[in-house]
Amino acid sequence: MSILVTGAAGFIGFHTCKALLERGETVVGVDNLNDYYDRYLKKARIEQLTNVSGFAFKNVDVSNYADIESTVVGGGVHAILHLAAQAGVRYSIDNPKVYADSNLSGFFNILELARHHDIENVVYASSSSVYGGNTKLPFSETDVTDTPVSFYGATKKSNELMAHSYAHLYGVSLTGLRFFTVYGEWGRPDMAYWIFSEKLLQNQTVQIFNNGEMSRDFTYIGDIVDGIIAAIDKPARQLGFKVPHRIYNLGNDQPEKLMDLVISIEKAFGKKLLKDFQPMQLGDVERTWADISRAKSELGYNPKTSLEEGIVNFATWFKDWKKS
Ligand SMILES: NC(=O)c1ccc[n+]([C@@H]2O[C@H](COP(=O)([O-])OP(=O)(O)OC[C@H]3O[C@@H](n4cnc5c(N)ncnc54)[C@H](O)[C@@H]3O)[C@@H](O)[C@H]2O)c1
Repeated sequence: MSILVTGAAGFIGFHTCKALLERGETVVGVDNLNDYYDRYLKKARIEQLTNVSGFAFKNVDVSNYADIESTVVGGGVHAILHLAAQAGVRYSIDNPKVYADSNLSGFFNILELARHHDIENVVYASSSSVYGGNTKLPFSETDVTDTPVSFYGATKKSNELMAHSYAHLYGVSLTGLRFFTVYGEWGRPDMAYWIFSEKLLQNQTVQIFNNGEMSRDFTYIGDIVDGIIAAIDKPARQLGFKVPHRIYNLGNDQPEKLMDLVISIEKAFGKKLLKDFQPMQLGDVERTWADISRAKSELGYNPKTSLEEGIVNFATWFKDWKKS
């Protein structure tokens, strides 16, 4: 039996596949290797995974049902970790269609697969973006999330609603994970910590939005992987609720100012960043902060890595990556 991981060439997918393989699981990884960011990075991640026994990769687009279905039928899949999606808040402002195709149609296909092929357990990526412009902090799973401020956030909220209906109607066991600003080695070139580090190394000026008056619950990749694996090991069906669908915040419960990220990066690289302060951008939110008490009590989730520590790990990897 194997686990299907969609978005396996992505940042979180790569790290989770690695952890699953390390504990002896058989993993079928799929990804369409799109060019939203450097495909060389995605291919390098897959190359690392294919060196480990128990891993098979297929270049598949999750919005194509026939392709994803044949992968499941041929691969003896019993569980799905669905991470494939068009990520990024700002990109969704100019490119909403790709979000509709990957995040809505692609997600629907995963639900259909689970329904028709008796998949025991589906864990999927949601996002802190579902909290949109909410001002009550910290963000809790029981808060109303009806006002997304980006189309990306709207697709993730839609996923949660679609999941709930499939759990209710067909008994599919589904767990949604709302990730909070994940960072770390082998990370994403479109995210602030990467852009800041790259510009710092090139002595270029970085735009800092809302004059730096923003805070994020930055979550280190190692902690996120632990949370994902805990969710895989505890299918929603086992919790005993009438509808087998459960949502968890996976954050750090440690909101940090954007300028603290800048300071951590400057410390890790031993160099100052040139800054250009700019007003707030459309689609952005001022603050995120995860209440993680549900994930702690039900999954045993316990993030351990401080921003400073995690950024040192990232910087060590990043310097090597830039040399390669
Ligand atoms: N990194 C974060 O801070 C963060 C925060 C909240 C939610 N998320 C969610 O977590 C998941 C993983 O994010 P990530 O940071 O690893 O992003 P990522 O972009 O590195 O990974 C996503 C992967 O999915 C693939 N993909 C996209 N559309 C596809 C399609 N139609 N078919 C097949 N593959 C497709 C991409 O090629 C990419 O490799 C995503 O669903 C994202 O929305 C991430």
